[in-house]
Amino acid sequence: MQIEKVGVVGCGLMGAGIAEICAKSGYETVVREVNDELLTKGLDRIGRSLDKAVCKGKLEENKKEEALGKLTGTTNLEDLADCDLVVEAIIESLEHKCELYAALDGIVKKSGVFASNTSSLTITEMAMATKRTERFLGLHFFNPVPIMKLVEVVRTIMTDDQVFEETKEFIRSLGKEPVSCQDNSGFIVNRLLVPYLLDAIRGLEEGIGTVEDIDKAMQLGCGYPMGPLTLLDFVGLDTTYYIANIMFEEYREKRFAPPPLLKQMVLAGRLGRKSGRGFYDYSNS
Ligand code: CAA
Repeated sequence: MQIEKVGVVGCGLMGAGIAEICAKSGYETVVREVNDELLTKGLDRIGRSLDKAVCKGKLEENKKEEALGKLTGTTNLEDLADCDLVVEAIIESLEHKCELYAALDGIVKKSGVFASNTSSLTITEMAMATKRTERFLGLHFFNPVPIMKLVEVVRTIMTDDQVFEETKEFIRSLGKEPVSCQDNSGFIVNRLLVPYLLDAIRGLEEGIGTVEDIDKAMQLGCGYPMGPLTLLDFVGLDTTYYIANIMFEEYREKRFAPPPLLKQMVLAGRLGRKSGRGFYDYSNS
């Protein structure tokens, strides 16, 4: 499996980060969004992140230009036809994902490998929407993608051993560290992280401390880079709500059940940083 060209479907927070690191690592990268407006927004996000990397001394100006030269945006799925690897990072909806994979299966060359960046849906279910079940796996990146070192590489019982090993090599070529996971909802990180985040909300509901004190406690007491409520705002309360529901549905365990306050905040549009308000107010930042 020779990876030269990578397709990324979805140019939101995660898709933009994935496209950025692929282009930065020298892969010809095509990123697809559903319309011009979202594509422009996504490409701007990549541009800003590359500028930030230059400002922080992580990337030379000429390398930024090289990365941009490797990157193409499109709204047309057909432009992914000759990709060796397609990474999907669209909304966490099984229905939308399966529909997309069925379409991609008819477009992308037979040797192309498909990978989903899902954080909690079952990879097997998506693979079954295609005829390339042995060339299908999960690649779960973490936010912010250009900074976080980990990628969970998820195999199903159908994934070909060689495809799995070579995809881990590809991840290393992006400067990331792979961990191997089985196809269990939440894989390793969210299986541990989601109950912790939900418990922080339950703690807030029960009055164990204020938003600021809960965050300060975990940040300074345990050395976490962010407190749990700041991290929830960072990940997005809607995203966390989706993930928790999927995991609760899968495991039927109370620790994955979204607490009422999370649901209320999502309904109220307090989604975290992206909406300007979550547990904290970002309207001036
Ligand atoms: N490109 C490359 N490097 C960059 C960069 C960019 N665009 N922006 C910043 N950097 C570098 C900086 O130079 C810096 O490097 P050094 O440490 O070597 O100096 C480093 O990245 C950190 O940057 P900042 O100083 O700007 O940021 P910070 O110190 O305030 O840290 C943070 C920000 C990385 C987000 C940190 O707070 C953190 O690690 N938070 C936790 C994030 C986390 O847990 N993410 C996982 C979420 S869960 C998930 O994603 C999965 C899911 O399914 C829900």
